[in-house]
Amino acid sequence: MRLSVAILCALVAVQAAALLLAGTAAAASELKVGYYHKKCKGVENVIKWHVIKALKQNRRTGAALVRLLFHDCFVRGCDGSVLLDKSYENPHPEKEAPVNIGLAAFDLLEEIKAAVEKRCPGVVSCSDILIYAARDAGSILSNGHVHFDVPAGRLDGVVSRADEAQAELPDSTMTVQQLKDNFAAKGFDTEQLVILSGAHSIGQGHCSSFTGRLSEPPQQITPAYRDLLNYKCSQAANPDVVNNVRDEDASVVARFMPGFVSRVRKISDFLDNTYYHNNLAKIVTFHSDWQLLTDATSLSKVHEYADNATLWDSDFSDSLLKLSQLPMPEGSKGEIRKKCSAINHLY
Ligand code: HEM
Repeated sequence: MRLSVAILCALVAVQAAALLLAGTAAAASELKVGYYHKKCKGVENVIKWHVIKALKQNRRTGAALVRLLFHDCFVRGCDGSVLLDKSYENPHPEKEAPVNIGLAAFDLLEEIKAAVEKRCPGVVSCSDILIYAARDAGSILSNGHVHFDVPAGRLDGVVSRADEAQAELPDSTMTVQQLKDNFAAKGFDTEQLVILSGAHSIGQGHCSSFTGRLSEPPQQITPAYRDLLNYKCSQAANPDVVNNVRDEDASVVARFMPGFVSRVRKISDFLDNTYYHNNLAKIVTFHSDWQLLTDATSLSKVHEYADNATLWDSDFSDSLLKLSQLPMPEGSKGEIRKKCSAINHLY
């Protein structure tokens, strides 16, 4: 009995120490470009080196990083909460939310964190590492056209809940009004919704994320593309299909959309404005993408970015930077995690 009281006291002391070590989350205005120049010299180069290495092996990892930035920052701000694994204390973290299907690149971020910890223990947050890595991925996948300086100094959050992620992230079945409301709730207007949706020029999605598209009428999806998607989805149980038909196997495109073969890209996952051309041609995977054509404001923006690739590069960079500065809820506690997948007192 006395022993268990002692153990309990020790546990409480450890938790209290962990809370004392934790700080209060920084406001967006407190983040600084070059935050780690003195605290951990060269850290941005270390991160970039790992991202370049990973993308040389598989460019799709870059798409996963860009999506992770979005899914982290839209829920409790950019606090690395999407990176937390389930634990005894928290059996349903954000990762478990259905809307987070297909998230990837967690191993890469853990690998980068380990390298950074070796260099400067306890200094660089996982949330900052994620933003740097996603920025670098966006830059590599766009041949340097998407770029921005990252203000840093974020703390890692200690809360991660699947129900919150499910409620706050947009769903691919949403109407344009639902998408607008969803983005407005985070301070993003219709133009920024359209700009950020352009990220669907890269990466892939599961067939379960566009089931409805497989039987939509020709006004909503080009029938030849619908046939292509039906074919791809019949090849396995809920397989992944590339978001951009220009990344599809040339032989599959030749079979279903022979006129499009010349547009198939030699290098996949190129972050550019082709999403807008595809959308106007009704050859995009998600219902939510097509919905952007059904509202006068968003439709005019789709046309604008289809016509102006350079403008999109620069506006996408600005919107991604804005996304990367979404703050944690006021008064939230944060810490510098030792590992990105677990809060410190669990580790
Ligand atoms: C506008 C509302 C959005 C909806 C409804 C949406 C929905 C989705 C869905 C359903 C997937 C596929 C998941 C799967 O089945 O595996 C996906 C993939 C992706 N999304 Fe979005 N998304 C939206 C906005 C964004 C934004 C703002 C970004 C980034 C700025 C983004 C970046 C990506 C990327 C890069 C992928 C591919 C990921 C990979 O290949 O690993 N999306 N999105």
